[in-house]
Amino acid sequence: MIKNAMKYHIITFGCQMNKSDSERIASLLEKIGYQPVNKASQADLIMVNMCSVRQSAVDRVYGLSRKFTELKKQNPKLKTVLTGCILPYDKNKLKKQFDLIFNIRDLSNLPKLLNAVKEARSCRNDGYLSVLPLLTSEISAYVPIMTGCNNFCTYCVVPYTRGREISRPSQEIIGEIKSLVQKGYKEIILLGQNVNSYQDKSVDFPLLLKKINDLSGKFWLRFITSHPKDLSDELIEIMSRGEKITEYLHLPFQAGDDEILEKMNRGYTIEKYKELIGKIRRRMKNVCLSTDIIVGFPGETKRRFKKTARLMKWADFDMAYIAQYSPRIGTAAAEFKDDIPKKEKERRKKKLNGILKRTALKNNKKYLGKTIEVLIEKKIGNDYLGKTRTFKDVKIKNPGFLKPSQFIEAKIIKITPWGLKGQVEKSF
Ligand code: SAH
Ligand code: SF4
Ligand code: F3S
Repeated sequence: MIKNAMKYHIITFGCQMNKSDSERIASLLEKIGYQPVNKASQADLIMVNMCSVRQSAVDRVYGLSRKFTELKKQNPKLKTVLTGCILPYDKNKLKKQFDLIFNIRDLSNLPKLLNAVKEARSCRNDGYLSVLPLLTSEISAYVPIMTGCNNFCTYCVVPYTRGREISRPSQEIIGEIKSLVQKGYKEIILLGQNVNSYQDKSVDFPLLLKKINDLSGKFWLRFITSHPKDLSDELIEIMSRGEKITEYLHLPFQAGDDEILEKMNRGYTIEKYKELIGKIRRRMKNVCLSTDIIVGFPGETKRRFKKTARLMKWADFDMAYIAQYSPRIGTAAAEFKDDIPKKEKERRKKKLNGILKRTALKNNKKYLGKTIEVLIEKKIGNDYLGKTRTFKDVKIKNPGFLKPSQFIEAKIIKITPWGLKGQVEKSF
């Protein structure tokens, strides 16, 4: 470690996209001589990468104010910087709390901006995804293929915080993946708010997947997030045929009632969603499905909520991220009355989690006694932790000779709703 080097600490909130952005921020800061520290109290630069999807995540950023004041007393040189998904309303209010606020799309300008504190210029630089990340894992890598969103679901801030969709050039994505595979990465996770609307000249998402699948080397390929309205038959076909494309799909349905879906501006009906799931299951027998759901959206009566519960039972999800509706300033749904009491939202969330636990357990039972491929990720105590192609955690009882990033064949001997336990049958 270089003595007296400036030290940085990043606090990341939100989704994988923000985590991936933090890896880019870290790589840029290290290029200009900053070194990472684990504690904010040791840093000369605290970078907060914010999420605005729910009010609770926003409140946590406001909640940092007292801590910053204390830290600045101890270290008057300390700079605090805010980036990520920020609504204009919060940007205005948070100006006092931070020395600098910058748009993540201006990332390549960060070195310059750090010298020009207080003045966040907005010369937009849409090539920010080209900044190479400092990856936190040596096995699994996030590769953003697009950013922004054009869908304007009425509850969602993303189109306001991240702006319109921009797809990254396919050549650049493929080049990055080639080099990751050469470095030994075994799992590539493509990121985008709506990967299905990826378009770079004549390359659409199915073609991009095909091109990545055709690269040489052994690795697994996943992607998040797919929007049901844009998931084509062609994509299902490519998924079912590409041997590197894993049998895992995250497909948010948000609500089980057509009127609510329309009020959310989701662009599909429940019938369409069910049709889609049917097609996917027919083409990929072992597929695992996860979803996002919002409970307590304005106008979600008990009768309407029951339809969400019914759809959940029907779809047999392996995982579901269930959120209580939180009105967001500036979105269209903020005009609707937030008419479901907090207690009722909590009850609905609990109810859905109960269903999830049962469907996940039922799905995991199918693995019992089977031998499946597992990617070893890390050692925990005497055991190893790995993943299946279907994105399930597997605990491997200590055989004493595995190494992270290795593929093995494991026999599943025990299950819970949230994971599998196995023993090594064969290691490569
Ligand atoms: N682009 C992705 C997800 C973006 S946000 C997609 O379209 O699926 C991630 C999840 O947060 C959403 O799927 C939704 O379930 C949840 N979410 C977004 N806005 C919300 C709000 N205002 N209140 C509660 N949950 C919300
Ligand atoms: Fe938000 Fe909808 Fe876009 Fe997803 S598709 S980021 S939920 S507006
Ligand atoms: Fe992700 Fe939150 Fe932004 S979910 S895209 S970090 S608003």
